[in-house]
Amino acid sequence: MQVKKAVIPAAGLGTRFLPVSKALPKEMLPIVDKPTIQYVIEEAVAAGIEDILIITGRNKQAIEDHFDRSIELELVLRQKNKNDDLKNMQQISDLANIFYIRQKEPLGLGHAVLCARQFIGNEPFAVLLGDDVIHARVPCIGQMAEVYSQKGNTVLGVQQVGWENIHKYGAVESDENPGSAVRVKRLTEKPSREEAKSDLAVLGRYIIDPDIFSILENTAPGSGGEIQLTDALNTLAGRQPVWAYTFEGRRYDVGDRLGFLEATIEFALRREDLAPGLKAFLADLKLDQF
Ligand code: UTP
Repeated sequence: MQVKKAVIPAAGLGTRFLPVSKALPKEMLPIVDKPTIQYVIEEAVAAGIEDILIITGRNKQAIEDHFDRSIELELVLRQKNKNDDLKNMQQISDLANIFYIRQKEPLGLGHAVLCARQFIGNEPFAVLLGDDVIHARVPCIGQMAEVYSQKGNTVLGVQQVGWENIHKYGAVESDENPGSAVRVKRLTEKPSREEAKSDLAVLGRYIIDPDIFSILENTAPGSGGEIQLTDALNTLAGRQPVWAYTFEGRRYDVGDRLGFLEATIEFALRREDLAPGLKAFLADLKLDQF
C-alpha cells in the first residue's frame, strides 16, 4: 500500500528554545530564509505525499498564515513586477493539501499523533516531526516509503547517535546484526546510558501502521509525564514486525539551540549567494577584538 498521508506534529511548547518560542512557533524558526516546517513539508511532497495534517496548538497561528495565500503581498509584488518572488510566494500555498487540527493540550507526541486518527483512517501514514530537518540526497521519508513498500510494516528512521546522547531519544533494541533495516525487539524512550542496549535512536521520521491508534488510546503517560509515541510503538513491535531503517542523510533538531545553529550554517554554506560571504566572515571573526 502506498503512503499518501503525513502527519506533522507541531504543537509542542518548545521549552528548550525559550524565550523565542514563547510567542513564535519553533517550527517557524528560519533556516536561512525558510521556516523549518516548510523544509519538512517539502520533504513529504518530494516523496509523493499529497495530504498533510499539521497538529497545531495555541500560539501556532503563524504556521497556518505561512501556508495560506497572502493576497495583499501578492498584489504588491505584482505591482512592483517582482515576478519571481510572486511565483515563490504562490508556490508555498500550493505545496500540498494541508489540513490542521489542534491538540488542545501538549500531552506528548503520542497524544499528538492520536489527534490524527480521523484524518488517517485505516491506512499506513508518515509522521515527520515539525522541528526536525534532514539534509539528504533522497528525501528521508522517501527512502523509508521504499522500505515500507518492501516490508509492508511500520518503519522507523534511525541513526547511531553515540552512547553519550542516547538518553535524549527513543532507543532501538534488536537481535539482528546491524544492517540498513533491522527488526525492532524493543523500544525505550530516553533510556539512561546504563539502561540503553544500543545507541540506535529514532530520529523524527516514521511510517506507521494504523493499528497504532488503538494502542495509543490505551498508552499511559510515560517519560516526562507525556504520552509517548515510543511506548506505543514498543507495544506495536510486540504484535507485528516493526523495522528500524538507518537512513542516509544528516538530521538536525531545530528545536535545540545548537541543532538550529548547525542547520543554519550547513544550509547557508550550500547557498551560492551566501557561502562566500559567510565563509569569509567566519574566517575573519575575532571574538576578542571588541
Ligand atoms: P519535542 O519534544 O521536540 O517538542 O517534540 P517540545 O515538547 O515542544 O520540546 P521541548 O522539550 O519543550 O523544547 C517533537 C515534536 O512533537 C511535537 C513538537 O511540536 C515537535 O515538533 N509535539 C510534542 C506535539 O505536537 N505535541 C506534544 O504534546 C509534544
